[in-house]
Amino acid sequence: AAIEKGGYDHFMLKEIFEQPTTIADSLRGRLVLNDSKIILSGIDSIQDKLLNARRIIIVACGTSWHAGLVAEYVIEELCRINVEVEYASEFRYRNPIISEDDVIIAISQSGETADTLVALERAKEHGATIFGIVNVVGSSIARISHAGCYTHAGPEIGVASTKAYTAQLAVLMLLALKVAKLKGTISEERFVELSHELNSVPEKVEWVLKNEVDNIKAIAYKYKDAHDVLYLGRGYNFPTALEGALKLKEISYIHAEGYPAAEMKHGPIALVDETLPVVFVATKDIYHEKVISNMQEIKARKGKVIAVVSEGDEMTHSIADDVMTVPVLDEVIAPILTVVPLQLLSYYIGVYRGLDVDKPRNLAKSVTVE
Ligand code: G6P
Repeated sequence: AAIEKGGYDHFMLKEIFEQPTTIADSLRGRLVLNDSKIILSGIDSIQDKLLNARRIIIVACGTSWHAGLVAEYVIEELCRINVEVEYASEFRYRNPIISEDDVIIAISQSGETADTLVALERAKEHGATIFGIVNVVGSSIARISHAGCYTHAGPEIGVASTKAYTAQLAVLMLLALKVAKLKGTISEERFVELSHELNSVPEKVEWVLKNEVDNIKAIAYKYKDAHDVLYLGRGYNFPTALEGALKLKEISYIHAEGYPAAEMKHGPIALVDETLPVVFVATKDIYHEKVISNMQEIKARKGKVIAVVSEGDEMTHSIADDVMTVPVLDEVIAPILTVVPLQLLSYYIGVYRGLDVDKPRNLAKSVTVE
């Protein structure tokens, strides 16, 4: 097992560190910069359906559902198609309104999650087109899909998903850029810009893994005995807040909650006192100033602020108690990068609490029963 872990203490850490490679693998041969195009042969057979889709419904569970939430923001912005993101377990039991003009995107690492599989069977009976974004080749969800595109994350052993998530985001962004270009909803200039940003992700993740690990370890040690942690973000950073909270719950058994930063005043702010750490996903984007004022509201109530910030953002640095830095990246692409420090934070908190981070209690890697 030590050899399988490639010198790392746990599969989870190995998988976090593999991300520069697995993200690059998920982009390779697909993102063709010098031709300014994206090749995703998986969509060819359903291209017309996708371009004329009345709606895209994304169906998934767990971390894969968070990837779907990021995709909602990206696809609506770039492709101007209405997107809905559904928990598979809810969708399958409703009497959902589905038509032949809807495209369902299923996201699943294992390709075997029972709720997702049954939800797709239902949608298929209603005549919807199913597009699968799956990691495990030949899995049930891959087989039931009309078309699809594999993530190239390689086998993921740690129960808490890390590299499969960033690979899903990479593929979803390729899909959004490709569809936007075909539909003409993106300018050539913006397409080129975002393509280059996407291409820069592996080296930026590498930067975090080279420069931030010791700092994140120290932050993890400082907050390892917290009872509750709140995660806040807006816009593209909101799904990352949810995913950060989920990672912490899974690995450290600390209660954590993700919330849209502006919603905190409708509830979570009542929890804030000197014992509550609040993690802000606060990289530079159009909401940045508003997020800073949310941070000040937490500070005014003596909460501790831990922030994921863009390199060079001295302002946020001076307000937060602790800071995890990531390189500057366009807000549309940023979710692939900003989740990485949050994965590391959860990992080290779990380790410092003496827990089995690869096999957290009560959780399964793949939930094949209802
Ligand atoms: C389980 C795993 C999660 C995963 C979820 C969905 O809960 O522990 O890590 O995100 O299932 O799994 P899938 O294989 O469909 O992505």
